[in-house]
Amino acid sequence: MNDQAEALVMRQEHRDEHAHERALGAPLPHESADAHVSGEARYTDDIPELHGTVHAALGLARHAHARIVALDLERVRSSPGVLAVLTAADIPGENDCGPVVHDDPVLASDVVQYLGQPVFAVIATSHELARRAAALAASEDVVRYEPLEPVLSIEEARKRQHYVLPPLRLVRGAPDAALAAAPHRLAGTFAVGGQEQFYLEGQVAYALPQEQTGMLVYSSTQHPSEMQQVVAHLLGWPAHRVSCECRRMGGGFGGKESQSALFACVAALAAHKLQRPVKLRADRDDDFMITGKRHDALYTYEAGYDDEGRLLGARVEIALRAGYSADLSGAVATRAVCHFDNAYYLSDVEIVALCCKTNTQSNTAFRGFGGPQGALVMEVMLDEIARSLGRDPLDVRLANYYGIGERDVTPYGQRVEDNVLAPLTDDLLASSRYHERRAAIAAYNRVSPVLKRGMALTPVKFGISFNVPHLNQAGALVHVYRDGSVLVNHGGTEMGQGLNTKVAQVVAGTLGLPLERVRVSAADTSKVANTSATAASTGSDLNGLAAEDAALTIRARLAAFAAAQYGGAPENVAFEDGLVRANAKAIAFAEFVELAYMKRVQLWSDGFYATPKVHWDARTLTGRPFYYFAYGAAVSEVVVDTLTGEWKLVRADVLHDAGQSINPAIDLGQVEGGFIQGMGWLTTEELWWNRDGRLMTHAPSTYKIPAVSDTPEAFNVRLYRNGANDNVEPTVFRSKAVGEPPLLLPFSAFLAIRDAVGAAVPEAREAAPLRAPATPEAILDALDALRASEPAALRTLQP
Ligand code: MTE
Ligand code: MOS
Repeated sequence: MNDQAEALVMRQEHRDEHAHERALGAPLPHESADAHVSGEARYTDDIPELHGTVHAALGLARHAHARIVALDLERVRSSPGVLAVLTAADIPGENDCGPVVHDDPVLASDVVQYLGQPVFAVIATSHELARRAAALAASEDVVRYEPLEPVLSIEEARKRQHYVLPPLRLVRGAPDAALAAAPHRLAGTFAVGGQEQFYLEGQVAYALPQEQTGMLVYSSTQHPSEMQQVVAHLLGWPAHRVSCECRRMGGGFGGKESQSALFACVAALAAHKLQRPVKLRADRDDDFMITGKRHDALYTYEAGYDDEGRLLGARVEIALRAGYSADLSGAVATRAVCHFDNAYYLSDVEIVALCCKTNTQSNTAFRGFGGPQGALVMEVMLDEIARSLGRDPLDVRLANYYGIGERDVTPYGQRVEDNVLAPLTDDLLASSRYHERRAAIAAYNRVSPVLKRGMALTPVKFGISFNVPHLNQAGALVHVYRDGSVLVNHGGTEMGQGLNTKVAQVVAGTLGLPLERVRVSAADTSKVANTSATAASTGSDLNGLAAEDAALTIRARLAAFAAAQYGGAPENVAFEDGLVRANAKAIAFAEFVELAYMKRVQLWSDGFYATPKVHWDARTLTGRPFYYFAYGAAVSEVVVDTLTGEWKLVRADVLHDAGQSINPAIDLGQVEGGFIQGMGWLTTEELWWNRDGRLMTHAPSTYKIPAVSDTPEAFNVRLYRNGANDNVEPTVFRSKAVGEPPLLLPFSAFLAIRDAVGAAVPEAREAAPLRAPATPEAILDALDALRASEPAALRTLQP
């Protein structure tokens, strides 16, 4: 037997091992795990190319803001292998791929608004030749510009009130009066950087013209329905002529929610013009230069508090870098406003969010969708309050936690009904031995002059649902074939998060089948229509419940048929262990299904789900935007080298509430991955634009995402199990969404670094002024600033 055959047999055995396990709640491997590691999993670029396939590449703007004076594309057209060069003038329909506000041209026409904006598309016989010709966009004689003044920073945009959308403002109570009356007050500013999604599979689309003027687009996208819609608008066609398919993404992380559109549009435009299959795959550097990232933010805040550090009044302004267009910034800013409170009750508060317009990439969704940017500043503020009072930040946090039955309404008016923060935190404090280790760290720091340790606990409360109520809907299509095997299609997309595994588990559980009897097919707009993006962590809730609805319909038909055949009541028919049990009879599912087919029982069904209870008033920023909340907490311990600014996460203890997990193995993976990804945002990942607005960190050589070696040696991650989980709103098998909330858990790592930096200058009264990302440079800057702020008398005593 050769290696491959052996591997296949082993894989088969591995599957059979799990056959007896009940599908729901079991820690089963990801449905594509074997295919991922063997290389068998097919991504968009792996789809066998049709005969005649050609390749596109994009010519990018070399100014951040400029008028296009002349386009002379002759030299590009005559480059080797080039078949066509397309510009905005070639677009038959709308030159726009913006998801909400229509301010995103597919190809720039008279003005370029950021350095890297696509101006023309080259179609050539190979990927390499297309890229070579597209690179001519950098030449003076190909595109002539008249430079305009760019706005490159949040500060500048804010000063000029240069926004892509009007400011958002939420006020509850009387913050001015509360601040004025508070016994203690502090005010400050803080900054956090952006973050590139760095999906391992870059943006890619493959468009194939179909007969009778149709278009099939394979797109690596979180939002096939939107790709269908923007391509239809671009070509000036009705939607039913376009279909979009995505089997899986090699990561999306929010970066393929709206921003896969430009690539889908260019591939479809070229395919339409040339009547040939066209593939557009962005090189990593181009992907960085073209697409938007997580919004960086500048904060100004004010807090009034009592002796215990309890917040009496607070005010914050969150200035986000939207980039040149609106994209999803309105929704991102709204989520930031709704997450400033994080886990804490705020009686009197003002929250303002600004979507600053700059001549840079248009920032977009990234895991957490503004939530992390909202909550981070709260944690920093509480840290400063604790420092100012000489208290452990943990005590200040606990003093501000949402209560149960009192102090439980968020600034936007939603009651926190399922609060497990206090017992979850107690559990974590015990398992992490927080108090004991805190004392040990203090003792260590007293005798260690250069290496300093720090520790922090931070909680998370994260709202689940799209803030835009109508998006909270999903559909599914479940087919039971005559041999008892099941094929599921649903409106969600698989990006590695395990959605297809969970949906398959739901259907298998509903029909009482082992998991290998259920297969999930590619997301496809011609199977389930008008889908929402797979985003806001709602994928398994929405699509799981839609698939369950379809499976329940089939089960009800089968139960009625069984009762008619064997007697008894339909509600007493059971589906379990691959059997149908009715009136003391047990028939194999496959056998029973064939009988049902012969009696003309419909064996397939659609399913639908719309989240109940959610509503939102976009004018007052109040309502019930979230169906429920997910909770978690983490304790991080770091060691910082105060001479070099290097640091290491020594240990992290994480406890996260995933409700009754559908698949604890997948959920643990999401928690671990979210934690490390969030840590990267706050520590090593730094986006840097030069004076011309050119993004200089556009490849792994200069942009450092965490590697496996950055995970702590002691990484104790647990899912929270507690009777209180049963109190959540009915969700899919009472599980909770887990995709994004864990991204906020590594706030603890960032605050632990601040704690360690503070320990280096124990005389300083204020918290370490450490910005994020906490790169070694930022850490050294914070140390310098803290030392400079010490009382002069003390400074002279230092060696
Ligand atoms: N996990 C992996 N492996 N890859 C991804 O791209 N995206 C995250 C999260 N986890 C992502 C991931 C984001 S941004 C979201 S919104 C959720 O998964 C979406 O999937 P879900 O709703 O099915 O949890
Ligand atoms: Mo996730 S940022 O909602 O795609």
